Amino acid sequence: MTPSKRIVLSSDHAAISLRQTIADHLAKQGWDVVDIGPTSPESTHYPKHGADAAQRVASGDCALGIVLCGTGQGIMMAANKVKGIRCGVCADTFSARMIRAHNNANMLSLGARVIGEGLALDIVDAFTRTEFEGGRHATRVDMINEIEA
Ligand code: RB5
Repeated sequence: MTPSKRIVLSSDHAAISLRQTIADHLAKQGWDVVDIGPTSPESTHYPKHGADAAQRVASGDCALGIVLCGTGQGIMMAANKVKGIRCGVCADTFSARMIRAHNNANMLSLGARVIGEGLALDIVDAFTRTEFEGGRHATRVDMINEIEA
């Protein structure tokens, strides 16, 4: 499958079950899901998992990434430290659409202790089904990239 339909998933221990539910949901929609774990419920460290998923996106191996932890905040911060990553935490579908349409986000972060499964799947759908609008928004994303450079 082409990288344009490949999506990487990762989480810490707080979000294993929700991550697996999202993986099944996306696979049913035809996504080539690269679930890089972890699978063990043992306590683990979200920065490593955020960075590992982000590397898959930054390298071009995966078009998009979804990361999860208890709040979605810590793993989002780690993912955003990888060059080329624009990752936003969402707890509503409007933001999930907007981070694609206006910010060209290539990663979504979710808080498994914040939102329920139904809302999480709606957010995932909003994120994966929205395209970047470009235009004036591209100018602003370019400005983010300049800061990063
Ligand atoms: C783990 O207890 C928790 O701190 C982590 O999942 C996340 O919420 C951090 O941002």
